[in-house]
Amino acid sequence: MDRILIIMILFFSCALLAQEKNEPKGKNMDAILLVTFGTSDPEAKKAFANIEKLARKKFPDYEIRWAYTSEMIRKKLARNGEILPSPEEALSKLKEEGFSNVYMQSLHIIPGAEFHEVVAVSTKFKKDFDKLVISPPLLNSMDDVKKSVEIMLSKIPADRKKEDAVIFMGHGSGKHPSDMIYVAAAYVIEKSDENAFMATVEGNPAFGDILARLNEKKIKKAYLLVFMSVAGEHAKKDMAGADTDSWKSILAKNGIESVPVLKGMAEYDEIVNIWLEHLEKTIGKK
Ligand code: CO
Repeated sequence: MDRILIIMILFFSCALLAQEKNEPKGKNMDAILLVTFGTSDPEAKKAFANIEKLARKKFPDYEIRWAYTSEMIRKKLARNGEILPSPEEALSKLKEEGFSNVYMQSLHIIPGAEFHEVVAVSTKFKKDFDKLVISPPLLNSMDDVKKSVEIMLSKIPADRKKEDAVIFMGHGSGKHPSDMIYVAAAYVIEKSDENAFMATVEGNPAFGDILARLNEKKIKKAYLLVFMSVAGEHAKKDMAGADTDSWKSILAKNGIESVPVLKGMAEYDEIVNIWLEHLEKTIGKK
C-alpha cells in the first residue's frame, strides 16, 4: 500500500514538473531584446557585458536577450560554437516561447541604415505580439548629442594639454541622411573645445578635412578617442593600427604624434544610461 502511495506521489510530482516545463516561459514576463551590429572581438565584448549588467539592474523583471544584425559576425562566432541570433531569429524564439510584450533596444549610435533594417524586421513580427516596439539609438535628438559629447569630452586623458588635439572617431554612414548627426556632434565638440574634432570612417566630417585643420593649427600631438559603441576593428586597425592608411600613420606622416584610447562608448556607464533611459521611456509609453 505504502509503496503504491509513494509511486503515485512520484508520478504526480513528475507530471507536475513536466507541466511546469511546458508552461510558456514568457507568460507572465515581458522581454527586452538588445539589438546591436555585434562584435567578435573578445575585448570589445566587455562593453556588451557592461550593457547587459546595467540593463539587468535597471529592468530586473524582464527577460533580457541579444540579437546581432551582422551576418558576418554571427557566422564568425558560430564557427567557434557561439550562437547568436539575428533579430528575426530572436523574435521568432520569443514568439514561440509565448512572450506577449517585447521591447527592442537599438544599441546603434545613430538611426541609420542598420537601425532601419531592424525596424523593417520588427514590422513583420508586429502581428505576433500584443506589443512590439523599438526604442531609439543613442543619438536620437540634439539633447542626446549634447549629453553624449559632454560625457565623451570628460573621458579625454587628464595629461592632455590645451594645445594637443583630440579626435573622436565616429563610424559615419555614407549616403544615409542620419550621417548628418555626426556633423551635429562635431559642432557641439568644437564649440566646447577649440582643439577637439570629430572625424568619421565612412561619412562626414571626413578625416582629410580634420587633418587639414590640424596642420593649419600646427598641432603636434593628438589624442584619438572612439565614438563608436565598441573599440573593435575600426578602432584597432583604421585608427590605431600600423598600416600606412591608419589615422595614426597618417598623423605621424604629418608630424603629429598620436595617443589612441581604445575604449568603446558602451564601456562607459553614463553612455549606457542614455540608451537605458530611452528604453525606460519606450516601456513607459502606453
Ligand atoms: Co564599419
